[in-house]
Amino acid sequence: MASHDFHALTLAEVAPLTDEAVTLAFDLPQDLSEDFRFTPGQYLTLRADIDGQEVRRSYSICSPVGSAQLRVGIKRLDGGRFSTFANSLKAGDQIEVMPPQGRFTAPLGGANHYLLLAAGSGITPMMSIAASVLENEPDSQVTLLFGNRSTASIMFREQLEDLKDRYMTRFTVMHVLARERQELELFNGRLNGDKLTTLKERGLLELSDYSAAYICGPAAMIEECADWLAGQGMDKAKIKTELFTPAPGSAAKAAAVAVAVDPNAEATAIQVMIDGSTRLFDQRPGENYLDAAKRNGVSVPYSCANGMCATCRCQVVEGEAEMKQNFSLEDWEVDSGFLLSCQLVPKSKNLVLDYDAL
Ligand code: FES
Repeated sequence: MASHDFHALTLAEVAPLTDEAVTLAFDLPQDLSEDFRFTPGQYLTLRADIDGQEVRRSYSICSPVGSAQLRVGIKRLDGGRFSTFANSLKAGDQIEVMPPQGRFTAPLGGANHYLLLAAGSGITPMMSIAASVLENEPDSQVTLLFGNRSTASIMFREQLEDLKDRYMTRFTVMHVLARERQELELFNGRLNGDKLTTLKERGLLELSDYSAAYICGPAAMIEECADWLAGQGMDKAKIKTELFTPAPGSAAKAAAVAVAVDPNAEATAIQVMIDGSTRLFDQRPGENYLDAAKRNGVSVPYSCANGMCATCRCQVVEGEAEMKQNFSLEDWEVDSGFLLSCQLVPKSKNLVLDYDAL
């Protein structure tokens, strides 16, 4: 399992993708190549000091496995502190980077047909999955449905064309545009359940063919497309989703729980096992878990601090705890005692948490 330590990596290149997106390419020193080995679909957590405040964000790796450089694609968001900062970076700058994490992965091997559904910057992990599969699984096929506002906003447009030219018989790309009229009415509009129904009726989606489906984009699009695939009979275990930003009102996988603070309650003694070491600290009643770790000088992994990315995933080995919200863990993980520690609310006086559990 990759360690959770940050490493200072040097930017080899900052290249524009669209008017509002760039790719950052990191040089990988030889001695870190093992730490930064990844499975297609994983992400990197970047950390920077912006205006005197530590800011962390996770970005999916878009380069294929085996490439000399690690690349991530970053779209500038309105008011996005890290994405605005990232768009001002230049080659030679250094950024702190945590080794690859994430379970939205396509392990390579075999003959498969992958269905990839992406919207906007949700294309970034798909670039790595598509290129890695096409390069390393000669008998596999990839079908990508990619939703965007307009042609100008399509990230990786040229790279997708290149992939199509290289793997003409094994790679299919369909662009769905919401605010630009394409000649074929079929490809106008939003990528959602209705669009999938139409594509299926026209023979462009063959559900019995797909070994797995990967969906990445805004919450509403993910929920609609995943529900549609499950409704068509696709095994839920074959539908993988990656959420970047929850839409207002999107359903967390566990309902948010209110943090009831008992003024007489004692602090919880917490033991964490991480990267083979053990650390101890206390969490006061009502205190946020990440704040408690920081107050005690204990470094625990996290990125979004919002229940989405699962960088903070760990298993409760002793004691009891709840999550305030969960947009990321599957039912089997929750049933097995895994939780998102950034959302942790202790329910016992002692807790033992294992960040190395798989
Ligand atoms: S830090 Fe992202 S889910 Fe906890």
